[in-house]
Amino acid sequence: MDGNGRWARQRGRARAAGHQAGFHTTRDIVESAARRGVEALTLFAFSSENWRRPQTEVGLLMDLFLRALNSEVGKLSENNVQIRFIGDRSAFKPRLQTEMDNAEALTANNQGLKLAIAVNYGGRWDIVNAAKAIARDVQSGMLDVDSVDERAFASYVSLADIPDPDLFIRTGGEKRISNYLMWHLAYTELYFTDVLWPDFSDEELGAAITFYAGRQRRFGKTGEQVSSA
Ligand code: FPP
Repeated sequence: MDGNGRWARQRGRARAAGHQAGFHTTRDIVESAARRGVEALTLFAFSSENWRRPQTEVGLLMDLFLRALNSEVGKLSENNVQIRFIGDRSAFKPRLQTEMDNAEALTANNQGLKLAIAVNYGGRWDIVNAAKAIARDVQSGMLDVDSVDERAFASYVSLADIPDPDLFIRTGGEKRISNYLMWHLAYTELYFTDVLWPDFSDEELGAAITFYAGRQRRFGKTGEQVSSA
């Protein structure tokens, strides 16, 4: 969800206004995704590198997350959305951690859109974390090292219970992954748009899905093999 700062600057407003507008877009897009029948949506809200921003901006984002949790979780739950957070949440203030735990507990049994919010998340962190957990299980004798294959490894990374993403969308014009779901994106279709996050809309989401629908996913096979299957 990139481009909040530039959106604000273009309007001569403070970055905070961009994040506030970005929050409204986030709310709208979660609703659009659910309405369009998207099974799982993962949003990159705060990367492990975002702590390097000025302290005032980090504080402001934390306040926004807390307010968003307070104002949105009830409605999301009524709409059957299942919420979870991925990333190292131990770095957040206890109050925010508690609200995240509560949101997960409240919505755990919901059967609608699986919404994951990546906070203090890094794709490499995720892989290292999985490697450590595997090492621990091998050390304790719970896991045989020879049984560690891609499938087994995948069960140790975040979001292990949902399929890898079909489509990655980055707004704001940059064409990079920025340490997002490094393990999961191996075969994901990548969609980049110059639209700044606060301007992203249901229509833009539709354009991204149309792009996805036009892709032929070969997973290493030839085009002929895939079309004749
Ligand atoms: C990137 O834009 C955006 C962020 C680092 C924060 C994301 C936060 C939101 C979309 C708002 C709230 C979300 C939730 C889940 C409550 P940027 O600041 O890097 O923009 P720039 O590249 O134009 O400076």
